[in-house]
Amino acid sequence: MCGIVGYVGKDTERVLIEKLKQLEYRGYDSAGIAVKAEQKINVFKAKGEIKNLEKTIVPLKDAQFGIGHTRWATHGKPDEINAHPHVSSDDKWVIVHNGIIENYLEIKDELTKKGMSFYSETDTETVAKLLEFHSRKVEDKMEIISETCDTIKGSYALAILNKETNGIYFAKNKSPLFIAKKGENVMIASDVICFYGFADEYYSVEDGEIGYTDANTLVFKNKFGEVVKNPIKCDFGNYNNANTYKHFMIKEIYETKNAIKNIIEYYSQEENRNKILLRKLDGIKRIKIVGCGTAYHAGLMGSKIFEEKLGIECTAYVASEFRYQDPKIGDDTLVILISQSGETADTLAAHEISKQKGAVTLALVNVEYSALAKSADISVPIKAGVEVAVASTKAYSSQLTVLYILAGLLREKFIGDKFNMADVEKLYNEFDYGNINNFKLLADVFQYNDKMFMIGRGADYCTAQEASLKIKETSYINSDTYYAGELKHGFLALIDEKTYVVVFATEKNVLSKTLCNAEEAKARGAKIILFTCFDLEPSLTENFYFVIKVKELGNALQAVLNIVPWQIIAYYTSVNKGYNPDKPRNLAKSVTVE
Ligand code: AGP
Repeated sequence: MCGIVGYVGKDTERVLIEKLKQLEYRGYDSAGIAVKAEQKINVFKAKGEIKNLEKTIVPLKDAQFGIGHTRWATHGKPDEINAHPHVSSDDKWVIVHNGIIENYLEIKDELTKKGMSFYSETDTETVAKLLEFHSRKVEDKMEIISETCDTIKGSYALAILNKETNGIYFAKNKSPLFIAKKGENVMIASDVICFYGFADEYYSVEDGEIGYTDANTLVFKNKFGEVVKNPIKCDFGNYNNANTYKHFMIKEIYETKNAIKNIIEYYSQEENRNKILLRKLDGIKRIKIVGCGTAYHAGLMGSKIFEEKLGIECTAYVASEFRYQDPKIGDDTLVILISQSGETADTLAAHEISKQKGAVTLALVNVEYSALAKSADISVPIKAGVEVAVASTKAYSSQLTVLYILAGLLREKFIGDKFNMADVEKLYNEFDYGNINNFKLLADVFQYNDKMFMIGRGADYCTAQEASLKIKETSYINSDTYYAGELKHGFLALIDEKTYVVVFATEKNVLSKTLCNAEEAKARGAKIILFTCFDLEPSLTENFYFVIKVKELGNALQAVLNIVPWQIIAYYTSVNKGYNPDKPRNLAKSVTVE
């Protein structure tokens, strides 16, 4: 969702724009920058893409520092007025903000009574006005910021300019914010990826901290005084903007095999396995897995793996439901929270509730410096490397792989069976990306279709859910998922000659049942695309429209091999339709608001 950058150094506008472009993948609908040059703060804003913003910028002499923002509208429509930066009435304070100020209406009301007026519908503007309000009685800028932070409630990462100061102030609570300093140049960002090509190490701003930076200074403070921090090494993995692929999505799909290699390397090391094996987990009687979207689908699959390997109750939940369901958890519960970004608002809220109720929490994250990774009792990295495309691909495969390893390690801990990496190594050795020409043929067909179904039983149902989500979000096709056994209980009525039904049939114990369901749909005119890992008698499949066969692994990691073709098919369907698969309409990479 929203993105923040700040920069101290020459060529400020160009650097800010370049960095905002690096944040585009998070999703936004307007953008803006504020640059101190020629003794004043110059603000430029535009609705829509960053190229619209670029057109508004006039050349500035002696630009020294500035802040920038990509906004994903929450409070107020996506237009130029609501775009950040926001400015106080006296023009002295200029701010960009990520997060949500929960008490902004109260503050607005209070300040209006005191004679202040507002020009936008945003929660952010109230912070700019509050800074102005507090500066009427206090001189020191850090104190003004501190008082402002004490007044606001909610989540915020703030980068702040003041007309009288030659640097950037910042503050943070619950929304990520990072700072890197290289010589006299400083960069502030809500995403470490901005430091790519700028610095090798950075500092993480923690909740409750405020600070100030310019060419010579970088200071962090909390309520106890100045904070001394150790820098953190940047790990950009295989992130590279100048890649040879047309889109991040296909690049990231083709990074899956390498991600599995990283996972094997990481979890083969005893010290990393011990982070789980040596934890005190006595008395755990049930496991709850929580996530959103793709992460939830990984959790669905994970719940099956855990129940099978551990023999204890394990249920997967959508985080937005879990948080309001008064979940039945206590100190006998292990809550596993899955999140690629580690910043998803509903998943973070689910974590908070789990902690309040005394559960042990384990975060399965890709972004290892994220809020979720930092706050959970146990943090388990999925080692997928930076994922930029909104449609999650290699992260899903890595989540499944690490869930499998985690289940094995918990089995060793609870039951005593020594875990070994053999199944995961087999996955790596057998892994291939399949017959790309076949996938492109299907994408050619799907591009003209606006309705389809994906069905399966057991683990295949989880794959169907995720495959369907990929088709929906990248290609805007109404793809629905059902348990294959539910066919006759309703949705058979929707099937006609124009309907494509993808039948996932890689679960041996229900294979014949699933094939029967495929025949039932076929008999009503559906075009059946059978997806299997078995060598089936030709007579069983000759009536089907298309058959995709993948390798048979013989364990739950089959799910990793099963999803990759659907990620590729979704990608090519999207490209055929002329869409940008990296940035689906209306969606953001990290859903940091409820
Ligand atoms: C996946 O393709 C989606 N973009 C989306 O469902 C995503 O998985 C979900 O928003 C959860 O994100 P997280 O893993 O960063 O928490």
